[in-house]
This record gives sequence, C-alpha cells and structure tokens, in this order.
Amino acid sequence: MTIQWFPGHMTRARRQIQDKLKLIDLAIELLDARIPLSSRNPMIDEILMNKPRLVLLNKSDLADPEITRQWVAYFAEQGLKALPIDAAQGNPSKEILNRSRELLSDKIEAQLRKGIKPRAIRALIVGIPNVGKSTLINKMAGRKIAATGDRPGVTKGQQWIKVGTEMELLDTPGILWPKFEDQRVGMRLAATGAIKEEILHPEEIALFAMRYIAKKYGDSLKERFGIAEVPQDTEDNEKVVQLIEDIGRKRGALMSGGRVDLEKASLTILRELRAGKLGRVSLEDPAMLAAEAEEAVPQG
Ligand code: G4P
Repeated sequence: MTIQWFPGHMTRARRQIQDKLKLIDLAIELLDARIPLSSRNPMIDEILMNKPRLVLLNKSDLADPEITRQWVAYFAEQGLKALPIDAAQGNPSKEILNRSRELLSDKIEAQLRKGIKPRAIRALIVGIPNVGKSTLINKMAGRKIAATGDRPGVTKGQQWIKVGTEMELLDTPGILWPKFEDQRVGMRLAATGAIKEEILHPEEIALFAMRYIAKKYGDSLKERFGIAEVPQDTEDNEKVVQLIEDIGRKRGALMSGGRVDLEKASLTILRELRAGKLGRVSLEDPAMLAAEAEEAVPQG
C-alpha cells in the first residue's frame, strides 16, 4: 500500500477514530517492533485522548529481542504497557485479553462491587498502514474478516467481532499516518517495507539502513554474505557503499563490465532484511532516538 496523506485525510482519519472512542473501553495501538517510534503517529496522545491504551509491538519475530526489551522499558517509563507480539505466526489473543483486563481492573472491580457482571471489553485497533492490523484482527477473530471499507453508498452499522466471550473488537481498525516530516522516519518505514520504494530510491534506503545494521549486526552480515570486513565507522558513506558493493559482488549483482549494480545489490539487501534473512534486526533503539532528538534541538 502506498501511503499518501494530505492534511484533509489526516483530519478525516482523526475524526473517524475519535468518533469511535465513545464506543470502546480500550485502544490497542499497534506499532512495528523494529521501528516503534517511526511507525507511531506523532499525534497519537491527542487523538486517543485519555482512553486506556495497550501498546502492541508487532512483527517482534523480525525484531532484535534485546532491543524490543529496551522498548518495553521505554514505554513503561511513559506509563504505557507494551507487549511484543507476532500476529502472523502467533496467537496473542489471550495475552492481549489479560493485559486489557489489567488495564481496566479499576472499572471491572467497581462493576463487580456494584453487583454488575462486567460486559465484554470493547476495543479498537489503531495503527499506520502495513503494521499488521488486519492480520491481528483476523487472528483474534479466528477467521478472515472481510474489510468493510468506507465506500460511499455503503452504509453499514458498526460491527463487533467477538474474541471469546470477554472481548469485542471493532471490525474496522483506525488507520493512522506516520510522521512524514522526518526523513529518517520515511527511510525506516521504507526499509521495513511499510512504504514502497517507488517513492524513494532503493540505494538511498539500503544505504540508510546499512549504516545502522553494519554497526549493530556486523557479524550477521559477515556470516550471511560471506564477507570479511564490515565497517564500524558507518558515518562515512563511502565505506557503507563499499559494503553494499561487497554484498552485491557476493550475490552476483553485476553490470556488464563486472561493476556492481548498486540498485540490484540494494534491492537484494532490502528484500533479505524484510524477510528476516539477516537475522532479527531492529532499525531503531531508544538510546539512538534520544541522541537524534538532541541533535534536532537548535543550538544557541
Ligand atoms: P495493515 O492491516 O495494518 O495494513 O497490515 P496487514 O495486516 O495487511 O499486514 C501487512 C503485512 O505484514 C502482511 O504481509 C502481513 O502478513 C505482515 N505481518 C503482519 N503481522 C506480522 C508479524 O507479526 N510478523 C511478520 N513477520 N509479518 C507480519 P504482506 O507481505 O503485505 O502480505 P502477505 O504476504 O501476508 O499476504
């Protein structure tokens, strides 16, 4: 899916989610475990207002488990419970239900004290395109849910999907937009495949991703591609391009004359990265983002 957002879209998306808030007890914010902040909507706190919220770090099967742990701690510091999940292969329904119950325990206990039997917890899944919303809804529903869409002329009441007897999900997730203004965010979204590379050049995306991957996962690269050297100084673009060329040569991404076809080499790297073939790789960690945020503060 290509992401193309305009201010009008954003206002509409925001309004659609806010209209649904009154129907639910809990918002489930779905993020990509490999890039939790880059896959996050910059206005999420305002959009969800004070709704109780569970953060899910999806695609954790592809992310570095140690960095995922750092992210869980990061969210905990902000008072948010974050749960790593793998919606594609796993079935996280039970854990999601348990965490949701914990988050709403005050409300549930108050109802029990009054002798009211608590009804099923009602939740809305929100997240940017490609983060895994439909996969998760289908998994929790235990069947494939047809996307209702919001085509003009099709008036359809809000549908609730039962997850066992204790939870109900709204059938259409809330679609959010990522933080486009920051180019690094765009690069990370492109590297994970959340946005298609037609918008950006594969060479640029691979170069950007490799600056991080070479530093953090040098040994995996050596092993996977059979290369002897992986640069540690990844601030130096030339060294990183050299690495991409080395990989390209190993993969036979050559042009006539024997020179490495950089575009082909970049596409190979991105394809293998997205498929998890470079190992479990995250593309951002809390310490790095803190450093980037500091850099962004104007000096003087
Ligand atoms: P969306 O509704 O938020 O737009 O996302 P969707 O569920 O369509 O998922 C986007 C892609 O991410 C899908 O792959 C899906 O299989 C994959 N995905 C979702 N959850 C996980 C997960 O936990 N781990 C991994 N590894 N992948 C996940 P696709 O290639 O676009 O489609 P398909 O090959 O599954 O048909």
